Amino acid sequence: MENVRYTAKRLAEIVGATEKQVVATLGRKDGLGLGDLAVLREKLEKFPEPFPHRIQLFLNFKGGTGKTSISSSYAYRLAERGYRVLMIDLDSQGHATKCLGEEGSSFTRTLHDVLIRRVPIDEVTVKTGMPNLALVPANLAMSTIDLALMPLAGREFRLRNALEPVRAKYDFVVLDAPPSFGLLNLNALMAATDLVIPVLADFLSYDGLRLLFETIQGLEQDLSHQLENIFIVVNAYNQTYKIAREALDALKAHYAEYLLDSVVRQCTKFAQASSEGCPIFGYDWESKGANDIEAVQLEILERVRAAAQAADAAGA
Ligand SMILES: Nc1ncnc2c1ncn2[C@@H]1O[C@H](COP(=O)(O)OP(=O)(O)OP(=O)(O)O)[C@@H](O)[C@H]1O
Ligand SMILES: [Mg+2]
Repeated sequence: MENVRYTAKRLAEIVGATEKQVVATLGRKDGLGLGDLAVLREKLEKFPEPFPHRIQLFLNFKGGTGKTSISSSYAYRLAERGYRVLMIDLDSQGHATKCLGEEGSSFTRTLHDVLIRRVPIDEVTVKTGMPNLALVPANLAMSTIDLALMPLAGREFRLRNALEPVRAKYDFVVLDAPPSFGLLNLNALMAATDLVIPVLADFLSYDGLRLLFETIQGLEQDLSHQLENIFIVVNAYNQTYKIAREALDALKAHYAEYLLDSVVRQCTKFAQASSEGCPIFGYDWESKGANDIEAVQLEILERVRAAAQAADAAGA
């Protein structure tokens, strides 16, 4: 991510200033990087609207639906907006770690140490190239976590408890889940306030959703955990395919209350960006993919805020 370069115009858009202000504040208009964004925000005192603390989990038991591409870009974009963000890579593949420019195998500690040995999460958290985006990296050590959790007391609540002490430090915790069905993902569901389910517009994804919703119902009944918000986001959508249009119609018919209006279209820039170790907003912020994730994020933030206000009003 060190290679991310912004134009003065883009930095102006991000912080909500004029290009002139950006150049005057930073003293130059070219070769601007992530550190410059942080300096600019401080100097111009352009901070984001406060937001209720969120723990947002990107999960689908099915593989390859875009959990990592979307969650890492989503986390990066929140940090661009000026929020304090912690991204947690739950997947032994370490793809979210890679997407944020780090190499999982270079870290000796992961969430495994936190959940199994109760190491404080701060001790396994590392910096990324973006000053207000921290990362809990993952590597192969995470692959045995379900087995290691099995005999432990309070095995479903370990992540939730581990996050409690850092609650005040971050506005958003973004979790990228592996495509599996076990105790780690149960921990993630128990910790999350919001669940974001990336799906492909095909009928296999549609079947997978049923299993996920059954699991969530089980959580509510057996472990009394209620997710505050659930969103389904259609990823890699190509409207020229009849099957994709039909699958989207089926989602609209059965999951209307959860389905986001915004979809993420098919975009080859995701693969290129991840191979550069960079979220799509740092790689090409004008791409279709970046534009679509921007729309998804704005819709999620808006819906979360509306739900929080409605809950407050009901409680008042
Ligand atoms: N909108 C998109 N358009 C085109 N390709 C995409 C899109 N989103 C993701 N991809 C590509 O699809 C592949 C799978 O994406 P990704 O790794 O984000 O999925 P995942 O759900 O995290 O997978 P896993 O289940 O293995 O963790 C990657 O090669 C990625 O570059
Ligand atoms: Mg993934």
